[in-house]
Amino acid sequence: MRTQVAIIGAGPAGLLLSHLLARGGVSSVVLETRSEEYVGARIRAGILEHSSVELLTSVGLGSRLRSLGEQHRGIYLQWPGSRHHVDFMSLTGRSVWVYGQTEVQKDLVAARSADGQEIHYSVSGVVIGDDFVKFTDSSGSVRQLDCDVIAGCDGSFGPSRHAIPSPQVYEKVYPYSWLGILADVAPSTDELIYAWHPNGFALHSMRSATVSRLYLQVPAGTDPSSWSDDRIWDELAARLGHGQNGWKLTPGPITDKSVLPMRSHVQTPMRHRNLFLAGDAAHIVPPTGAKGLNLAIADVALLSRALIARIVSGDTTLADSYSDDALRRVWRCTHFSWWMTTMMHASGDPFDAQLQLSQLRWVATSEAGATGLAENYAGLPIGF
Ligand code: APR
Ligand code: PHB
Repeated sequence: MRTQVAIIGAGPAGLLLSHLLARGGVSSVVLETRSEEYVGARIRAGILEHSSVELLTSVGLGSRLRSLGEQHRGIYLQWPGSRHHVDFMSLTGRSVWVYGQTEVQKDLVAARSADGQEIHYSVSGVVIGDDFVKFTDSSGSVRQLDCDVIAGCDGSFGPSRHAIPSPQVYEKVYPYSWLGILADVAPSTDELIYAWHPNGFALHSMRSATVSRLYLQVPAGTDPSSWSDDRIWDELAARLGHGQNGWKLTPGPITDKSVLPMRSHVQTPMRHRNLFLAGDAAHIVPPTGAKGLNLAIADVALLSRALIARIVSGDTTLADSYSDDALRRVWRCTHFSWWMTTMMHASGDPFDAQLQLSQLRWVATSEAGATGLAENYAGLPIGF
């Protein structure tokens, strides 16, 4: 087998990269260890930044997003007794879209199959060489895929990042996790609520007019089955301020319950010879601020341009600067996600709590403070 770019991983980074490369006349083959059904059913965050929406729309992936997704002007920031709307549109002229990653994945799979993209699901034994990838296909045959470039889009558990020799690894693990639920109930809010509370952080998000997504800060290592449905709704009601100023949280049947660990992780460089990393393969952010998917999209926007220039025109300038270019945005989002996380989560230390409340009051009520949050949340332009 031979292709120009061997893409490891069929998550959003890998599939969007294959889409952007095809538009630039570059061939690719995608290899994925999981089945198509498994990859399509994973539940992840669902907020798209302004520039992610612009990019997806500009490459023909915006029609379901714009009909099923919901455009939000901003978010609510709250702490006991106060709720403030931070209006990204009026502060920065940019908005965000609520559109589940499961839907982004569906759009990508549909677009790639319409284009005849070669994707091998359920592969195993992936070995990365300098200009080839070896793997065992779903029928058990060992195959070799020769290529000019390898794109490591295989998430944080894949082999690509281990193929970069002597990387620098930066990591921070937080002492809390999120207990996340999906519930068949209309959201009790028009836009997302990020709530600081002495019991711990809570977030009210949503997937559609009839499906809500909510989260509670819990200690790291919590077993989701130790939280009954009633206990979850009671705690969400307390932390989100049910009954304050007439606001009510409507509970409903919980259809999914899981615990998400929280860490920040960056590995540099994002390139070694012909191997380029993108998305979770190179960096993980905690979910506060929903940057993971948006960073993966920004990486592949840069990487596709760099690879098209290198392969089609023989110009290696963008490929040579890819790691530095991508890392500028990666570190901005790593800082923003860490900042939102540490501002919103209870640590149990009363000094920290007073600093958090002071910071929240400033961010929610000063135009300068709110603009900083808005600019980072709604997202900087691709190429920042
Ligand atoms: N060979 C092939 N594929 C692999 C291998 C391997 N050895 N190991 C892992 N993979 C696949 C995983 O099964 C997964 O489908 O790589 C894919 C990586 O996809 P994601 O984890 O979704 O990562 P990415 O595409 O970078 O997306 C980043 O989406 O998943 C969220 O939290 C993530 O929001 C972030 C964004
Ligand atoms: C989600 O809808 O899953 C979500 C939204 C915002 C976040 C994190 C997750 O900050």
